[in-house]
Amino acid sequence: MPFSTTPRLGFVGAGRLARCLAAIWSRAGYPVTAIASRSAASAREFAGELPGCQIADDGSAVARHADIVFLTVPDDAIGATANALQLDQARASSQAVVHCSGATPVDVLAPAQAQGAEIGGFHPLFLFGGLASDQTRIAGCSVTIEARGPLHDTLTALVRALGCHPLSIPPGGRLLYHAAAHYAASFALCSLSETVTLWKELGFDEDDALRAVLPMLAGTIETAREKGLPGALAGPVSRGDASIVVKQLALLQNLGGDHATLYALLSRRAVALAKRRASPPPAQALDAMSHAIELVLNGTAPRDD
Ligand SMILES: NC(=O)c1ccc[n+]([C@@H]2O[C@H](COP(=O)([O-])OP(=O)(O)OC[C@H]3O[C@@H](n4cnc5c(N)ncnc54)[C@H](OP(=O)(O)O)[C@@H]3O)[C@@H](O)[C@H]2O)c1
Repeated sequence: MPFSTTPRLGFVGAGRLARCLAAIWSRAGYPVTAIASRSAASAREFAGELPGCQIADDGSAVARHADIVFLTVPDDAIGATANALQLDQARASSQAVVHCSGATPVDVLAPAQAQGAEIGGFHPLFLFGGLASDQTRIAGCSVTIEARGPLHDTLTALVRALGCHPLSIPPGGRLLYHAAAHYAASFALCSLSETVTLWKELGFDEDDALRAVLPMLAGTIETAREKGLPGALAGPVSRGDASIVVKQLALLQNLGGDHATLYALLSRRAVALAKRRASPPPAQALDAMSHAIELVLNGTAPRDD
């Protein structure tokens, strides 16, 4: 059944994400009608910012006042919250229950579906810090939707009301989607952490290292935006400087731990990107790098003892 163009929105979980989304949607003309949260104080704070928003005892009470119920609790609480939802049988077929987790399967909401509601996933690719500035910084980001039919259309309109771009994933695709997204978020931080760790060998402290690398990372992101990933690739792989890659692998191998393995895995991806450049480095240089990389990865690279 199609939803109204401005469905009534309810939330369970008055946290960082919910407060940001609810505030923007309310300003855009979507009635945010009810909130339930673990603590009364969070619910009060949430409701106090939104005209016409009632504080409800639990998810079932939220559902009595809303067409779309967003379960914005921590991921581990989504299943239990969905299980506890009691929908009004006369209205459930015109309602939807949606969660905002990137990794949790949408079918964790099956108890709501069994009562007749549509179910879906709505995952903003944005880090909500609980700051007022979240509400402006989110514009231009993407939100990944997993839903069918009219709910998909309604969630797409809600994405646009945030000033974001809608992305769709097929049912069951969340785990792969979310695993891959780590590389653009927390794993980018893990790469920076490796820089800091290795520079500590040279006596740099973490503050010095971050002051140096964060602007470099920002420049890399800007260049990728303008020139795409292969075009933005810099460093020895992009130039075909095989001897540098070979020496750096050997150095890291001698440092011990898994430093050489990480460098080799990422260099393998860099070689693949370099091959896609408008002017790729000479094949011979890329082959020499690949040979040294594979020796490290298959455990046969020599180590100085
Ligand atoms: N933060 C992000 O950057 C981000 C980005 C994309 C997606 N998400 C997803 O958005 C969802 C919410 O994340 P968040 O970062 O907004 O979390 P959060 O800031 O920790 O907020 C969670 C809220 O849920 C409430 N809560 C906890 N357990 C509850 C329960 N059993 N029943 C009712 N309320 C409960 C908390 O309670 P009280 O405050 O009432 O104690 C809190 O207000 C998660 O699924 C997360 O994966 C988050």
